[in-house]
Parts: sequence; C-alpha cells; structure tokens
Amino acid sequence: MDISGKVTIITGASMGIGLATAHVFAQAGAKLVLVARSADKLETLAGELRAQGHEAIVIPADLRNTTAIHAMAQQAFDHFGRIDILINNAGQAAAGQVATVNPDHYRQIIELNIFGPLHAIQAVVPMMRQGGGGVIINVSSMVSKMSIPGLGTYASTKAALNMLSDTARGELAPDNIRVITVYPRLTATEFGRNSLGDERMRQQQRATPSANASPRPTPDSAEHVANRILLAAQNEPKEQFMD
Ligand SMILES: NC(=O)c1ccc[n+]([C@@H]2O[C@H](COP(=O)([O-])OP(=O)(O)OC[C@H]3O[C@@H](n4cnc5c(N)ncnc54)[C@H](OP(=O)(O)O)[C@@H]3O)[C@@H](O)[C@H]2O)c1
Repeated sequence: MDISGKVTIITGASMGIGLATAHVFAQAGAKLVLVARSADKLETLAGELRAQGHEAIVIPADLRNTTAIHAMAQQAFDHFGRIDILINNAGQAAAGQVATVNPDHYRQIIELNIFGPLHAIQAVVPMMRQGGGGVIINVSSMVSKMSIPGLGTYASTKAALNMLSDTARGELAPDNIRVITVYPRLTATEFGRNSLGDERMRQQQRATPSANASPRPTPDSAEHVANRILLAAQNEPKEQFMD
C-alpha cells in the first residue's frame, strides 16, 4: 500500500514503539490518529507532527474498555471520513511465574493485548469495507513463539493474537483487507518498567536472559521496529520479522 494520505490509527502512540511508528508513518505522508491513555503525551506528539506539516488528531482512550474503542474508531472516521490502516500496537506484560502470577494482572493484559485488538478490528472493519479495503497490523512479540520463565501470561496473550490474525487474514481477504502480524524482539523501550507485577519480579525479568540466546541480546531500537512496521504496511506480507 502507498502510505501517503492514508488514515492510520496507531494505538499505544504515547511512547516506545508506537511513538516511533507515528513519526515514521507521518514522514511517509500518513494522516494519523494517535491513541493511548496519556492525553498530554499524545498532544505533545501531535504538536510536533503538526509543526512539521503533518496531519494528526489525538483520541485518548483506555483500550481495555470496549465502548471507548468503538467511540475512538467512530471519532476518527467522523474526522477523516475513512480508515485505511489500523496498527494494534498498545500492549503490556505481567511479570510472574505461572504458579504465582497475579490472576488479576493476567485478566488486565488479556483485556488489553487480546480484546483490545479484537474490538478495534470489529470497529474498523465495516469502515474499511466502506472504503474498499485496508491494512490491519497486529503487533505481537517473538516471545509468543518461546517459553520464557516469568513471561508465560504475556506470551500467551500474544499467541492468542497471532491466531486471531492468522484467521482474520483469510476471512477478510475477500474484502481487500490485509491482516499482518509483526514480531518485535527485545526492544529498547519502557515496556519492562511498565509491566504489571511487583518491582522485584520485574527486575528479575529484565535480568533473565532470553531462552534462545546467551548472553542477553542487544535490544532493537524503537525506530528500527517502526521502520519494519512501515515496511509491512507498504509490502503487505502475512508476517513481518525484524531482520
Ligand atoms: N519492548 C519490547 O521489548 C517488545 C518486544 C516485543 C513486542 N513488544 C510489543 O510492542 C508493543 C509496544 O510496546 P512498547 O515496547 O512500545 O511498550 P511501552 O513503551 O510500554 O508502550 C506501550 C504503549 O501502550 C499504551 N497502553 C498501555 N496500556 C494501555 C491501555 N490500557 N489503553 C491504551 N493504551 C495503553 C501506552 O500508553 P499509555 O500508558 O499512555 O496508555 C504506550 O503508548 C506492545 O504490544 C508490546 O507487547 C514489545
């Protein structure tokens, strides 16, 4: 897809990978809908983008809330008259081993990492159909393909997202809607610090080497991941990895 002029919703745009993705898509000429809970951070970002001549609107929303997700999509559609690209990027981890992890934390990340993308897809698909098609990008994680002690709940939410993506891809193909799964690996953001669970568990998690690499791999930059997300939107592969 040629990104220029395309109306693009980016969830989790207030920091990390989502913020970097907003910059990269703006440079490529997209019209942006910036979504997260932190209205102040989104406004700062939108101000920077507008100062560079780009179009961006801010819609603060908690993506664990179904009503808020549908309202966000409708507000974006009412403003721009179409939705071309949805990037389901917002996500969170819950630190803790399966035997002891806080089940309430697990419920919260299930709401955000699985139901958030699901509701966003359900909200935008009728709008994309009306516009003749679109691209949906679900940001998963390489940990969805591994078993790493302390990350089982998080990995399971991303594994569920992978399967939703794989199935929706076939279901939506007749509508000219492409569904792409993006697989970041360890990335230098505040993701670890933002994870649920007590600080001791989170510190332990950050210190734990990944299952398939020792010593701990060098993290990718958020900009690297953002450029891969842009590449995915342009080339429309089924899956996008970071190499
Ligand atoms: N960093 C990594 O190593 C890594 C590796 C693989 C995959 N990923 C995935 O990449 C995506 C982005 O992660 P990141 O590293 O950029 O993390 P991050 O720096 O912690 O950013 C997470 C984003 O999600 C938003 N968010 C969190 N909870 C939300 C909620 N309830 N409602 C709305 N927005 C919410 C945050 O904004 P507010 O707090 O303002 O709401 C923030 O913009 C996630 O899906 C993550 O699972 C990350």
